[in-house]
Amino acid sequence: MKDATDLPQSLLVLGGTSEIALATARRLIARRTRSVWLAGRPGSALEQAAESLRTLGADVRTVAFDALDPESHETVLGKVFAEGGIDLVLLAFGILGDQAYDERDPLRAVQVARTNYTGAVSAGLVAARALQTQGHGSLVVLSSVAGERARRADFIYGSSKAGLDTFAQGLGDALYGTGVHVMVVRPGFVRTRMTAGLPEAPLATTPEAVATAVELGLRRRSETVWVPGVLRLVMSVLRHAPRALFRRLPV
Ligand SMILES: NC(=O)c1ccc[n+]([C@@H]2O[C@H](COP(=O)([O-])OP(=O)(O)OC[C@H]3O[C@@H](n4cnc5c(N)ncnc54)[C@H](OP(=O)(O)O)[C@@H]3O)[C@@H](O)[C@H]2O)c1
Repeated sequence: MKDATDLPQSLLVLGGTSEIALATARRLIARRTRSVWLAGRPGSALEQAAESLRTLGADVRTVAFDALDPESHETVLGKVFAEGGIDLVLLAFGILGDQAYDERDPLRAVQVARTNYTGAVSAGLVAARALQTQGHGSLVVLSSVAGERARRADFIYGSSKAGLDTFAQGLGDALYGTGVHVMVVRPGFVRTRMTAGLPEAPLATTPEAVATAVELGLRRRSETVWVPGVLRLVMSVLRHAPRALFRRLPV
């Protein structure tokens, strides 16, 4: 992205079947994006996602990517960047886990942390260096309000997102002034397959609303985006609520 107010022509999605990422890709294709890489675990879901974007007129390629295999990230992302410049990397992979189950099975809990946090540390650093080498571009990281404050209901997932969020903020500061922009996106409850079957949280939103917020954030070159935006205020209050009170809130 040569112009700060411009939108990407080329997009790399890490977590290529993510419903939020695909809604964002659709929106960006409708604006300016022509070339898309969907990086994800190989399978029919990834190929179907690619086909759905091709019908919108984009040139879409897929590449095998596993967040749980950080040793491969340099090679996988290196291959993508070697094929041509990437204006936007969207880090969208993640798993929610099953809090009640994972509390009793620490190895499953570790899987959540390895996917959402250490996988993102590795992929984020590799992507950031590639963007810095080309001298421009944005890294958009899908964090979560769940990382803002520990909740009894999802603190394993929440703690992984807290780590991811802090990492992405620091990376943004490290890259400040290099021409590479890092944007942290903090959605609340989004209706996707990740949350299917769960009781809906207040201020629930859609992948399309996240996509709209991402586009606006890119145009403004924002560093942090909340979806919906009112969550910024809500969380600034909740963050300071006493623990004894927060524990009893229906959030
Ligand atoms: N939905 C929400 O309420 C919500 C709220 C805040 C933040 N977020 C975050 O937004 C991001 C996208 O979520 P979503 O709602 O779009 O959910 P989703 O549709 O379930 O997407 C999750 C993505 O993560 C990928 N993934 C999981 N483990 C992976 C691994 N080891 N290697 C590579 N890819 C892996 C999945 O790929 P497969 O197809 O291979 O499983 C899928 O593409 C996540 O980081 C999530 O934590 C979601």
